[in-house]
Amino acid sequence: MKEKIQQDIEALRKELHQHNHNYYVLNQPVISDYDFDQKMHRLIELEKQHPELADANSPSQRVGSDLNKEFEHVKHTYPMLSLGNTYSEEEIQDFYTRVSKQLVDEAFEIVCELKYDGTAIGLIYENGQLLKGITRGDGVQGDDVTANVKTIKSIPLQLSGTYPERFEIRGEIFLPHEGFARLNTIREENGETPFANPRNAASGSLKMQKSSEVAKRPLDCYLYYMLGENLPSTYHTQNLEQARSWGFKIPEHIKLCKSIEEVFSFINYWDEERHNLPFDIDGIVLKVNDLKQQRSLGFTAKSPRWAISYKFKAEQGYTKLESVTYQVGRTGAVTPVANLDAVFLAGTTVKRASLHNSDIISSLDLHLGDMVYVEKGGEIIPKIVGVDDTVRKKDAEVVVFLKTCPECGSELIRIEGEAAHYCPNADGCPPQLKGRIEHFIARKGMNIDGIGTETIELLFANKMINDVSDLYHLHPMQLSTLDRMGDKSVNNILEGLEASKQVNFARVLFALGIRYVGETVAKKLSSAFKNIDALMQASQEQLIEVDEIGERIANSVIEYFSNEKNIQLVKRLKEIGLQFELSEEEQSSHSDKLEGSSFVVSGSFASFSRDELKSLIEKNGGKNLSGVSSKTSYLVAGDKIGPSKLAKAEKLGVKIISEHDFKALIDME
Ligand code: IVH
Repeated sequence: MKEKIQQDIEALRKELHQHNHNYYVLNQPVISDYDFDQKMHRLIELEKQHPELADANSPSQRVGSDLNKEFEHVKHTYPMLSLGNTYSEEEIQDFYTRVSKQLVDEAFEIVCELKYDGTAIGLIYENGQLLKGITRGDGVQGDDVTANVKTIKSIPLQLSGTYPERFEIRGEIFLPHEGFARLNTIREENGETPFANPRNAASGSLKMQKSSEVAKRPLDCYLYYMLGENLPSTYHTQNLEQARSWGFKIPEHIKLCKSIEEVFSFINYWDEERHNLPFDIDGIVLKVNDLKQQRSLGFTAKSPRWAISYKFKAEQGYTKLESVTYQVGRTGAVTPVANLDAVFLAGTTVKRASLHNSDIISSLDLHLGDMVYVEKGGEIIPKIVGVDDTVRKKDAEVVVFLKTCPECGSELIRIEGEAAHYCPNADGCPPQLKGRIEHFIARKGMNIDGIGTETIELLFANKMINDVSDLYHLHPMQLSTLDRMGDKSVNNILEGLEASKQVNFARVLFALGIRYVGETVAKKLSSAFKNIDALMQASQEQLIEVDEIGERIANSVIEYFSNEKNIQLVKRLKEIGLQFELSEEEQSSHSDKLEGSSFVVSGSFASFSRDELKSLIEKNGGKNLSGVSSKTSYLVAGDKIGPSKLAKAEKLGVKIISEHDFKALIDME
């Protein structure tokens, strides 16, 4: 029996490793996402029932952990050097001549590769298993970010084929454009500062303390350099080909060049073509292919003599700043936008550039009519990187951030510690009113079929709606008076509105558009408070006790519900029949056995993961806290519990209970 289970687990692991590889490395999935999830659930279930068969490199471990940890510093086996940079054809020519001379006119080949713009990583494998992932650090020692690296699906945890017993492979962790844009949208939705570019986002993600958070970031990794005692070949390209066969994601755009002309043609091709890649590159890397020749060329103190990088010039546009206009979002945040004389840049015509906030305007010392330099970095919207003040007219007017709202005239406010200015007139400022309705009907909110932004514009302009509750009182006759609104469209809208009454509490809460209450926060709040009345009455202290809710979110929730207009709106929506409490089904998996108790969970457990344990606590009415304090009722102590938590709990007299005791608390045994 036992053997059979072990076989099943191993077969599932092998199969899931292969499917991960097919999907994330080869881009050729052979099973549906659904089937993949089914198999993963089955594996997780089996591993849970048989903790003795655990494996740190099981595909189930890619979800990461909630453990907060400082990174350990690890010395690199081989120092992690950087490359010499060049910016011109002459410098490339010099490199080529230098190599040729040092190799006393021996024939040599140059490998051209893309220079990925992310963050460098060294991966150490032993017996085909990923052992460690280490950042560059200062080149001599780096941070051990193994747990975070394991969440990156294109990095194999277990190799296939015949590989050296121990070796290191280095590469670049990066965030493709699509994932970067998605990540920033979520950050903005949650009131967090968006990342400036994909490189910062990738290195920031890799350094996050909780690997479960890293797992949510769509990071990817190309490997481009192998090190070790027993490498399969004495040629760089052949080593990479072997690595590809073991499961690594190896760059596809590599060229083996026999002449400098071929090198230049690769560089020139990619200088243009890079704009069509789904990720950023900032140059081309040139490497001597033969490892024996590499050895004879050697290293300087900082970089190898057998390789060099050519950096692309960031494409800059030079154009005139015509005006600065301001956009007001649904939360009242006012964003300045630079309107430019149209200029062609990196494949597209640019007419606008983002100015982000008033600090950026002041630091650029921007004047109307200025000639400015614009650059397209990883950002979707180009930005102004400099001003040519040598051609500024004497009487040019300095750009000063607005004092009043461009839409409703209210005086703008600036919250301490935040870069943005806000229009405080939430109940009367048209783009805020409209924006909130648009947010309410959106797919992730009430998902009302049939109504789009244009319909909202029309309804709003015709004064048929002023807030979201008005949507539910729209009369078919009223709707049919609108432009291009046939019977079918009217029906669609009415049906969509009716169906939205079944949308669950968490999504209704998200749809209300409370500042900083994004999807995840709405879920946490709805399951902690169970219904809107409890949430409306919650104190700052009670709100902060909920996992992942901080002071900023708590204050925003309190502010929202201290506004009589919002209280009335909720009342109207309740009368209409929207869901303002957890459904019976959602409730039934809940109890109040742990009501009033707060828990800190630490260590690892035999019957569940830390996440599962925490969710059990919440489902039974308890609260999760991240650190032990005098307010903690219980410390649930697992295997390898952090000694400082244990000592603190003992000192404060907090009850320390085992996994078994916990199960008894919720009658689970
Ligand atoms: S090879 C000793 N190949 O550029 C040579 N590096 O300043 C090891 N990079 O730290 C590096 N793409 O983070 C190599 N195809 C590529 C690369 C690449 C990006 C990064 C890497 C390195 C930096 C060099």
